[in-house]
Amino acid sequence: MALATSDRGSWSSRTGFILAAAGSAVGLGNIWRFPYTAGENGGGAWVLIYLVFVLLIGIPVLLAELSIGRKTKLNPVGSFEALTKSKFWPWVGGLGVLTGFGILAFYAVVAGWTLAYVYEAVTGAFAGSISAEQSSAIFSNIISNPGLAILLTGLFLLLTILVVRGGVSKGIEKTTKVLMPLLVIILVILAFRSVTLPGGMAGLSYLFAPDFSKLTGTGIMTALGQALFSLSLGMGAMITYGSYFPDDANLPASGVQVAFFDTAIAVLAGIIIFPALFSAGVAPDGGAGLVFVVLPTIFGSLPAGNLFAIAFYALLAIAALTSTISLLEVCVSYFVDNRGWSREKAAWILGAVCFGLAIPSALANGASPFFSDFLGSGFDFLTIQNNLWGNFSLTIGAILICVFVGWIWGVDKALGSIESSGHSMAGKALFRILIRFVCPAAILAVLIFIVITGNFF
Ligand code: PHE
Repeated sequence: MALATSDRGSWSSRTGFILAAAGSAVGLGNIWRFPYTAGENGGGAWVLIYLVFVLLIGIPVLLAELSIGRKTKLNPVGSFEALTKSKFWPWVGGLGVLTGFGILAFYAVVAGWTLAYVYEAVTGAFAGSISAEQSSAIFSNIISNPGLAILLTGLFLLLTILVVRGGVSKGIEKTTKVLMPLLVIILVILAFRSVTLPGGMAGLSYLFAPDFSKLTGTGIMTALGQALFSLSLGMGAMITYGSYFPDDANLPASGVQVAFFDTAIAVLAGIIIFPALFSAGVAPDGGAGLVFVVLPTIFGSLPAGNLFAIAFYALLAIAALTSTISLLEVCVSYFVDNRGWSREKAAWILGAVCFGLAIPSALANGASPFFSDFLGSGFDFLTIQNNLWGNFSLTIGAILICVFVGWIWGVDKALGSIESSGHSMAGKALFRILIRFVCPAAILAVLIFIVITGNFF
C-alpha cells in the first residue's frame, strides 16, 4: 500500500469539518429526494419511520464511520486494510468507492438540472405566477433535451473536478462557509410563504400526520435508504471525511450536530414542498420531478419572487456541489492513498469516466426511449441507478460497517478513536448496543423483508 500523505490534507478546524460534513450531507438528498420519496410513500408515516431510522441507525453508523477514518487517516479501502488482516474487509471499502461512483453518475444529472433552473430564473421564467402545467412543461423541456441534459451533467462534473483537484480544506471548506447559512435563510422564508398559501395546511398534515395504512415494505426500505443517503453513509464518505478530522476536536458532538442539521433541512424542504403542492393541486406522488415542478408555482406569489428563484436554485446547485465533491473525493482519496496517483490526475480521470457513465441517466427522462423505459422494466435508467446505488448498495454497506465496528474491530477501539481528543461521549452503552445488535438486526430485517416481498422498487 503506497501512502501519498503529501496529497492528503486536514480540515483547518472543527468548524471546517462540520461545514464540510454538513456540506456533504445536505444536498439534493434533502431538497429533491426526501420530498418526492415522502410523497411517493404516503407522507406522515414514512416520515416518522425515516426519523426513527436517522436516530437509531443513522447516528450510530455516522459515528462508526467517523471513528474508522479518524483512526486510520485513510480512504475506506486503506482503512479496512489498516485495521484488519483479512482480505474481505478492504472489499467492503471497495464497494464504497464503487457506490460513490455509482451515485455520482446519476446525482450529477439531477444536479445539472439545477443549473438549468438557475438559467431559467435569471432569464425571468419564474417572474410571474405560473401554473403547475406551465411549470411541468418547463421541466420536461429541459430534461428531455438530450444535448442539454448531457451538457449540464458534464458542466456539473467539471465544477466538481475543479474543486476536488484543489484539495479538501482549501476547496471544500471555503465554499460551504458562507453559503450554507444563506441556504437556510432562503429555505425558512420559502417555508413561511408556503404554509400561508391557501390550502397549505393540508400539506402539513400530509407530511406530519402518520397514516400507517399507507406504509409499504418498499416504503420502509426507501426510508432506510434515504436516511443513509441523506447523511452520506454506507459508502465511506464519512470514513474519508473523518480521516481529515482534526486530532483535538470533539467528534461525537460534531457528528450529532451534522445529523440534526441534515434532518432539519430535509424537514424544512418538506414544509416548503407539501403545502405548495396541495395549494397548487399537484399530486404528491409525482416522482423525481416534484421539487422542480412545484417550487416555481410559489415564486410568483412572493415579492421579488424572481430574485428568490435565482437565489434558491443557485444555492441548491451549490448544496449539490458540496455533495458531489464528497462523492468524488471518496474515489480520489482511494487512488491517491492506495495507488499513488496525484490528486490532480485522479480528479480528472475519475471525473471523466463518471461523465461517460452518467450519459445513460442523462438520457433517461424522455431523451432516449431505451433509457427512459430501461429494458421494458417500466423504470427509467436514472431511477434504477438511484435505487441500486442510493438505496441497496448503501444499505449493504451500512450493515457491513456495523458488523465491522461492532464485532471485528471492536466497539472499544471505535470509542477510543471517537474520544481520542479527550472529549467523552454520552450514551456509550447505548452506542454499543445499537451498533452491535440493533442496527445490524434492523437493517437485515429490512433486507430480508424486501427479498421476501419482492418489492424492490
Ligand atoms: N447526502 C447527499 C445528499 O443528501 C448525497 C450523498 C450520498 C453524498 C452519499 C455522499 C454520499 O444530497
